[in-house]
Parts: sequence; C-alpha cells; structure tokens
Amino acid sequence: RRVLSVVSECAPLVKTGGLADVAGALPAAMAVEGWHLRTLLPAYPAVLGKTGPGNLLHEWNDLFGYPATLRATSYNGLDLLLLEAPHFFDRPGNIYLDGHGLDWPDNPERFAALSFAAAEIAQGLLPDWRPELLHCHDWQAGLAPQYLAQAGSSCPSLMTVHNIAFHGLSPPEKIDALKLDGGDFNPGGYEFWGNISALKAGLTKATRLSTVSPTYAKELTTPEFGMGLDGVISARADVLSGILNGIDLDAWSPKADPAISPFSGLKSKAKNKVLLRERFGLPATDGPLCVVVSRLTEQKGLDLLLAALPALREGGGQLALLGSGDPSLEAAFIDAASADDVGVIIGYDEPLSHLMFAGGDVVLVPSRFEPCGLTQLYGLRYGAVPLVARTGGLADTVIDANAAALRAGVATGIVFSPVTAEALSGAFDRLHVLYRDSEAWAKMVRRAMQHSVGWDASARDYSELYARLVEDR
Ligand code: ADP
Ligand code: GLC
Repeated sequence: RRVLSVVSECAPLVKTGGLADVAGALPAAMAVEGWHLRTLLPAYPAVLGKTGPGNLLHEWNDLFGYPATLRATSYNGLDLLLLEAPHFFDRPGNIYLDGHGLDWPDNPERFAALSFAAAEIAQGLLPDWRPELLHCHDWQAGLAPQYLAQAGSSCPSLMTVHNIAFHGLSPPEKIDALKLDGGDFNPGGYEFWGNISALKAGLTKATRLSTVSPTYAKELTTPEFGMGLDGVISARADVLSGILNGIDLDAWSPKADPAISPFSGLKSKAKNKVLLRERFGLPATDGPLCVVVSRLTEQKGLDLLLAALPALREGGGQLALLGSGDPSLEAAFIDAASADDVGVIIGYDEPLSHLMFAGGDVVLVPSRFEPCGLTQLYGLRYGAVPLVARTGGLADTVIDANAAALRAGVATGIVFSPVTAEALSGAFDRLHVLYRDSEAWAKMVRRAMQHSVGWDASARDYSELYARLVEDR
C-alpha cells in the first residue's frame, strides 16, 4: 500500500503554515491504517541541513533546464524523497518569497519540477518503489495529475485543497516551458482567465478531490469562497470529500511538552499563564488572557480584532499575539501593544507558540475563511478555549457555548457570525459573562481538553478514500 505524498513544505523540516503540520503528521497517521507514505519534498537548504544528503536514487541531466537529483532519506519517522535541484531550491530565506516579500519569479517552474518528478516516480522511475497513488497538496503539486494525464498513466491521484486562495498562476507563454499540453489550455482544462493555473490543472485532472474540513468542502462550491474555482469544483462535487485535519498528539501533549511547564488540569495550567504574561510583559489581572498565533494576512481577520479590542478590554481581557506577515498589520499590532493590556511579538517562534496555548485562557481565530485551522485544535488540547468565526473547519471543530449547548454540557468554545468587528465584539461580551462564572468556565475548559483532536477518525476516512482510488484504477 504505497502512496507518494507530494508537497512543498513538511514539519518539522520546513514550515510556513498548517500545510506543513498536516504533511508531516499524515504519514504516521496513515501507517496505522496500513499505508506507507513517502513524502516528495524539495531539498531546500534548511531541509538538507537537517537530513544530510541521503542516498542518490536518480539523476536528471535536464529537469526543466537544469540538473537535478532524487535522494532518499528519513527524518523523525518520515520516509522522504528529496528533489535536489539547486537552481530552483538552493536559495536563502522564505521558500516561496524573495527578500522583498514577492513570489520568486520562477515559482511556476520550481513547483512544476516537483510535480513532474512526482509524475515520473508514479510511472516507475524508481525500480524498487512505485506508488499506487499520488496524494497532491495544494497548487505546488497541482501539475502532477496533469503530467500523469498527459503521459496516459493509470496511476490515480488525490488533489487536496488546503487553501484555495493560492492558484499558482503563470502566463500562457510558459505552456511549453512547463511541459504542458497546449490542448488543455481551455476553460475545461488548466486555463484560468487567460493564465495557466496549476491548482486548476489538479482540480480538473486528479481522480478525486478533497479538502480539509466538511464545511469548507461545501463552501468551496460557492462563489463567496471558491475564489473563481467554485464552478470547477461544483462540477466535480461527486468526487469531492471534506476530511478534517487532526493534530500530532505526541508533538502537542500538555503533559509532556518541553516548551511549557507540563500540566494536566486547570490548576497546573496556571503556571503557564504566569510564564506567558512574563514573556509578553502583561500585568496579572482577573480577565481572560486571549492569545493569537497566526500568519498576519487578510484571511485571518485580525483587522477585525483590532477594531474589537475595546470590547475585549471592557471586561478586563488581555491580548498576547505572536505572528508575522502583512507589514501594515504588523505595524498596527505593534501600535496596539503600547497599551499595557496588549502584548505583541512579531516573528515566528514554535516553542513560544506552545506556551501561548498552554498559558492562554482563550485562543482567538476570527478568520474570514478557514479551510481547517489548527490553532483552535491546539487550543482545545491545551485548554485555551477557542473563540472562532463560524466558517470552514472552525465551524466543524468548536461547539458554541449557547444556552442549549451549555445546558446539554457539550460547549467547547465561542463561535460568532457574521465575521464582522461587531459580531466579534459581541463574542467578547459573551466571553466576559462566561469567564466570570468560574465554575462553568472550568467545566468548559475540561470539556475542551477532552475533545478529540487527533488523527484517528480522519485517517480512517483518508484510508477509505485511498482504497477506493487504488481499487477503481
Ligand atoms: P494556516 O496554514 O492558514 O497558516 P493553520 O491554523 O492551519 O493556518 O496553521 C498555522 C500553523 O502555523 C500552526 O501550526 C500555527 O501554530 C503555526 N504558526 C503560525 N504563525 C506562527 C508564529 N508566528 N509562530 C509559530 N507558529 C506559528
Ligand atoms: C491552509 C489553511 C488552514 C489549514 C491548513 C492545513 O494553510 O489556511 O486552514 O488548516 O492549510 O490544511
């Protein structure tokens, strides 16, 4: 049962967002179900620095114009195939962006090379290991199903959408350079309003499609969330599944997390709150300590949080935010941090992120759209009650503390809609009422911590999907 997972980032080797967490956790989760996943990943310097060069499996003299090699190695239980193509991947800094924060101009070629290598492996490039299935993640792997189709390969493929906001567009002049069949440059193929769309190639050519929550699967078929691809996805709704992401329960274990003061209940959790306040220079108060760990982008709705800060303050609440991204949002939060109830750290800090979930009372996720979202899951696990927008995976993973849910004893957080500053302010008002009732609050925290956030159920769903793909080929 061999699957090749094709992805541009994979934790703990290289990460810009949740895609890496999922790609990194999926192999172990699927091993339980009897699937052997190998992960094909570009050999960025940060990756080679950790894995070493590995074993040479194949050499290309000319892969999209430059020499490249394929190397096998393993790391942290991951079975890896590294695409070493120095011309494309041996560069410093962010894996997608240049020093000015712009996409590397050759991103289309870089990830076309990754996808092409995947398709060659699916067609038997490696004598000892031929996958029965390609699992392609986001636009960076979107051309792989296209190359399989062009080669007439019968290897099935699953295209998983982690975020429809990124299409991997390039101008039509690149059709030949990207080794694409010009005959598919039309609205039924990979053409998107006159450009090449790597994501659309995957969406039209993959055997089946999936995304990372049931609600986002539905949303993707609507103009509000489909970002121009809702028609394409609706047309394939019969092969689309929504499977929730899980989290790695070993890496995220409050009882045994080296980045925090380990804890099992509310009392022992309190130590982390003290540590967290120290890190952010926040004074001790009676109000809820809210945390945000996030990319700072339009998607995440953090401009709404800035507008709703008065309502958070009103009830003595505090904010600790860790994030980076959009320079104007960074500046606005740095500005907000001049108040003594707001602490902001601009940057990326994995260990600190653990302390935030451990020390926070509440994790805020006011996203405009959220395919799955992982920080609300970390919050559940670490007893930081999620306060989230009712969208995508957030809606699927948090049970709102309305009167009925409280009575039934099932609430795990606060869910607000519509996604506006007013509704978020209203959610803060509700938070303050709930938080003041310390007994009810403690119950909700305990319930949150018991909520199942691992991979078990989702791994079974993926397994069924994989099996179907392999059997139907
Ligand atoms: P997305 O993939 O859209 O960014 P997710 O919630 O799925 O959203 O995943 C984000 C991941 O990145 C989580 O593991 C989160 O903890 C992590 N993360 C985001 N920003 C930071 C940061 N500044 N420091 C540490 N971890 C971060
Ligand atoms: C994307 C989405 C996020 C999801 C992650 C992993 O980055 O924005 O919601 O959790 O992928 O699937």
